[in-house]
Amino acid sequence: MAILQFMSAGMPSVATPTTVHCDHLIQAQKEGPADLARAIDLNKEVYDFLASACAKYNIGFWKPGSGIIHQIVLENYAFPGNLLIGTDSHTPNAGGLGQLAIGVGGADAVDVMAGLPWELKAPKIIGVKLTGKMSGWTSPKDIILKLAGITTVKGGTGAIVEYFGEGVNTFSCTGMATICNMGAEIGATTSVFPFNNSMVDYLNATGRGQIAEFAKVYQKEYLSADAGAEYDQVIEIDLNTLEPHVNGPFTPDLATPVSKMKEVAVEKDWPLDVRVGLIGSCTNSSYEDMSRAASIIKDAEAHGLSAKALFTVTPGSEQVRATIARDGQLKTFQEFGGKVLANACGPCIGQWDRQDIKKGEKNTIVSSFNRNFTARNDGNTATHAFVASPEMVVAYAISGDLRFNPLTDKLMGADGKEFLLAAPHGDGLPAKGYDAGENTYQAPPEERADLEVNIAPTSDRLQKLTPFKPWDGKDALNMPILIKSLGKTTTDHISMAGPWLKYRGHLQNISNNYMIGAINAENGKANHVKNHYTGEYNGVPETGAWYRDNGHKWVVIGDENFGEGSSREHAALEPRYLGAFAIITKSFARIHETNLKKQGLLPLNFIHPEDYEKINPDDEIDLVGLTELAPGKPVTMVVHPAEGKSWSTELSHTYNSEQIEWFKYGSALNKMSAN
Ligand code: F3S
Repeated sequence: MAILQFMSAGMPSVATPTTVHCDHLIQAQKEGPADLARAIDLNKEVYDFLASACAKYNIGFWKPGSGIIHQIVLENYAFPGNLLIGTDSHTPNAGGLGQLAIGVGGADAVDVMAGLPWELKAPKIIGVKLTGKMSGWTSPKDIILKLAGITTVKGGTGAIVEYFGEGVNTFSCTGMATICNMGAEIGATTSVFPFNNSMVDYLNATGRGQIAEFAKVYQKEYLSADAGAEYDQVIEIDLNTLEPHVNGPFTPDLATPVSKMKEVAVEKDWPLDVRVGLIGSCTNSSYEDMSRAASIIKDAEAHGLSAKALFTVTPGSEQVRATIARDGQLKTFQEFGGKVLANACGPCIGQWDRQDIKKGEKNTIVSSFNRNFTARNDGNTATHAFVASPEMVVAYAISGDLRFNPLTDKLMGADGKEFLLAAPHGDGLPAKGYDAGENTYQAPPEERADLEVNIAPTSDRLQKLTPFKPWDGKDALNMPILIKSLGKTTTDHISMAGPWLKYRGHLQNISNNYMIGAINAENGKANHVKNHYTGEYNGVPETGAWYRDNGHKWVVIGDENFGEGSSREHAALEPRYLGAFAIITKSFARIHETNLKKQGLLPLNFIHPEDYEKINPDDEIDLVGLTELAPGKPVTMVVHPAEGKSWSTELSHTYNSEQIEWFKYGSALNKMSAN
């Protein structure tokens, strides 16, 4: 949808360097190559569209199988001091290379692609002071697992986490990326490390030595915290005493140090048999992660042991996969019984055709991923998913027991002798350099004017967008109320997910879910509203489309915090497509309100919240004085009840003068393409 919106702006090229990545749609069934081939077949029209649109609009295209966006960004694009936005919550991964990388919704991405300014409420800064140095089984993952336990999943909301203290210079750049990646789990806007030598090493290893040299020039001035910097909050973690942690189940902030797991797991009645260990994902699939994980397997195999649990490996990129294939770690995983999946998200995003248990069966899995909410990995609400470092995941896969503490508990070797697993070790960077593997990148060509974008007119998943009409310059009179929604109306009520996600690139089809989850204040039912003109009851989207097709602008009346939840831009595109003129509520969730403005709709608020109660779903609404729409100036609403006298009231809005232009032009993109 972001690409489709960008196309409708009529620009010949993106204004900001942009790439597209295909990592979420590849289901883990068998093994990498077979799973990839099946996904390419199933999603061919989407991939063809993306490849052709990227070529046309000067966008780099990373083909399916190239890897996970955040790993590819770290390997190719991230650099100290940069500001990057990405349409995925783990975008902050690139903070490991000293840049501010922030996850946003698609509408924000379109703005950036088009060269519009991007806005963010100034965040607070949480300083995390790292002292000492990690050793043995402790890894960077344990820093963020520990931090999540301290802050909880909400503790970073509205804040940037900045790491400082002598401990920041004691581990690898990819380790820092792991920590920044999982800052999303504490709700942080992003996380960042100061520029240091580990970043220089990584930039050199990934062919970007010149950037490292350039960054050194600005290290003190711009790429480190100011001397005496003050933070809104400071949290200290001592790396000398930090233990490996295992977080979960069902939430990433339930942190248990490995030494306590024995008693906690039993006390909480968590399933003790570890059924599957999964390593990789955007969080933990660096060369170092893979090497350390492989070192433990080698040790176990030297004692004649193999995995008790099933074991999967998801390489974060083709570059990592090819490099560990060359250097032997991949073979080690496979000989251990590991299934090497495609370079994609796979089980991390629920793309996992899990066969070893039945749905509803209580069981434990341990992964090196970042999220472990209920049913996220396998769709089974009874799966207890824990997150840990890759090396700990391997230790659990070997022992098959959640109570196992590799630091203190011995295993029985094939020779009948007990032994302790040796602490993990491995190179942070490949001694022979990275192997890029198969070329999975499509660069945009120089000559693009004659290129076509592949969208089949018969497609039910993709549809070109037509720019919305500009405002006609007149007050809107006698508008029907499509729905007066009662109580909580989240973006899920406005534009449901689940099976509808398939239609994310087809505005007409996805608009058939508009407000179907919202409760009609008139009758307490969902998706059951009266047509103001015919008196017939029908679904919300059908009724909205009827009004549009019969020349009636319409409004929605909503309650408090309307549009809370995700930043889904479809929740604003759909009412615009169906002919809405204004959305009038007690209050809006901030992102949804901005999204509505961007699509040329009028989000307005009752100055007197009790007016919400006075409005009847059968009333007609006038909005007058719109030619004088100005920042801070209320809009007058006149209400015409079916019976009785008309009355008027004032509505407030949060438009600034630039946003008023969006309304006048019909959308932010229309305004931009007109310039
Ligand atoms: Fe993909 Fe999981 Fe990361 S879904 S982007 S690997 S968090």
